[in-house]
Amino acid sequence: MTELTPITFAEIDIDRIAGHGGRLAVFLEPGGRLDAAARRVNKLMKGALLRLMESQRFIDLKPGETISLAYPSGLAAEAVDVLHMPRRADQEVARRAGASLAKLRGEADLLMLAAGTRRVADVAFGLAMRDYNFQDHKSEPKPRKGTVEVMCSKPEDATEAATPLMAVAEGAFFTRDLTNAPANVLTTTAFAEQLVEMKALGLEVEVLEEADLEKLGMRTLLAVGQGSDSPSKVVVMQWKGGAEGEAPLALCGKGVVFDTGGISLKPGAGMEDMTMDMGGAGVVSGVMRTLARRGAKANVVGLVGLVENMPSGNAIRPGDVIKTMKGDTVEVINTDAEGRLVLCDVMWYAQDRFKPEALIDLATLTGAVIIGLGHENAGVFSNSDKLCDAFLKAAEAEGEGAWRLPLGKGYDDQLKSRIADMKNIGGRPAGSITASQFLKRFVQKDMPWIHLDIAGVASLKSESLLAPQGATGWGVAALNRLVADQFEKG
Ligand code: BES
Ligand code: MN
Ligand code: ZN
Repeated sequence: MTELTPITFAEIDIDRIAGHGGRLAVFLEPGGRLDAAARRVNKLMKGALLRLMESQRFIDLKPGETISLAYPSGLAAEAVDVLHMPRRADQEVARRAGASLAKLRGEADLLMLAAGTRRVADVAFGLAMRDYNFQDHKSEPKPRKGTVEVMCSKPEDATEAATPLMAVAEGAFFTRDLTNAPANVLTTTAFAEQLVEMKALGLEVEVLEEADLEKLGMRTLLAVGQGSDSPSKVVVMQWKGGAEGEAPLALCGKGVVFDTGGISLKPGAGMEDMTMDMGGAGVVSGVMRTLARRGAKANVVGLVGLVENMPSGNAIRPGDVIKTMKGDTVEVINTDAEGRLVLCDVMWYAQDRFKPEALIDLATLTGAVIIGLGHENAGVFSNSDKLCDAFLKAAEAEGEGAWRLPLGKGYDDQLKSRIADMKNIGGRPAGSITASQFLKRFVQKDMPWIHLDIAGVASLKSESLLAPQGATGWGVAALNRLVADQFEKG
């Protein structure tokens, strides 16, 4: 797994400033006063820091942004990174500040002078999240070197505040690594193996093989995988941090390790992006890792359906009718609408076996959600205003875009089939909603449920605030917060 940059918090020791050989970061507020550490830097630099602070360039800087002074005389440091950091900086600004430092740092040792800064833990979180570089397939990987140290007023408190945030970053890194991995490397088998390794963190992990899935009647999931040489699997991860016997929250993820479209083959251009079609399963795996790492006091089960959607002489055809685990029959009109066929069985099984308190599924389910919401927001669909509002609040607090879209009978009618109980597609109008209506048919009575269509947010072509280009880990922070806010009792 891509390793997190270790970040330590230490007491303020201004005598270390002059001799520090890497980079120094100074947090300043325009019009504010210099703290003791900043005063020392300013003195060693013969007043340059104050001149910068009073300059228009600094005043124009957005909170959380940086100006770097390279090779300053009077200091051993290779650069001083000066951040615009309001005293009352909110979480987002603090994370933005950390992210800017991550980008500047390279491999240098970074010493932050953050005496007057609240939210140092959020600065550290922003830095850790942005300091990600997927190098698994570079023949000359650049290992992240250098140390990151934060001098602050209460290092013990900062360490305590940062610990659960680093658990989130670790979960997000796990999600990103899985989502970035190519499909010849992250096969269904390799994916399952990585999840089994999480037993070391205290999770219970079971792998259901094809024979098990056949016995359980997960026929639509198996149908999607039947054209591939890689065996289909369902992995069940249980975190039992809550009261014994208390109903868990269930998280279900679409884990299509590669989506060619099957016999309804996708066009060639851009097909390589479908290595990320296991992104929903990636988020579920990352959240489970975070919960275990921080010892969450809640019961949560994570289930992922791992399959590969390939065309072959053995693949499902358009027109095939398959019976789901629930017992309803589906006419497969388009083999490229495979995610819902995987999820319907996983969701049914999760509810049958665990009788959860609530159910949340995640999937890179439709291209249509990208047409509707772009890459800014995931599509949110729910039958429960209460659960949905709690999730939207958690996502907002974590800066993870999420936007609710409607459900309704009219959309459901688009799934009517002449010969089976339903079709697997509802035509062009409202493609993300009809996909959700399909899933909704597999939500048991009175079960609070959210479906998150993350096709637009799981992986990006350009960098974002907390992630470089590629997999983002969207959803790990929001779901972790939802668990903390709503499912951890006592
Ligand atoms: N995995 C795709 C959806 C997707 C598209 C994810 C773009 C990420 C980026 C999904 O399986 C799919 O192919 N959906 C079809 C559904 C259609 C056949 C009804 C789509 O969106 O075109
Ligand atoms: Mn598809
Ligand atoms: Zn897909």
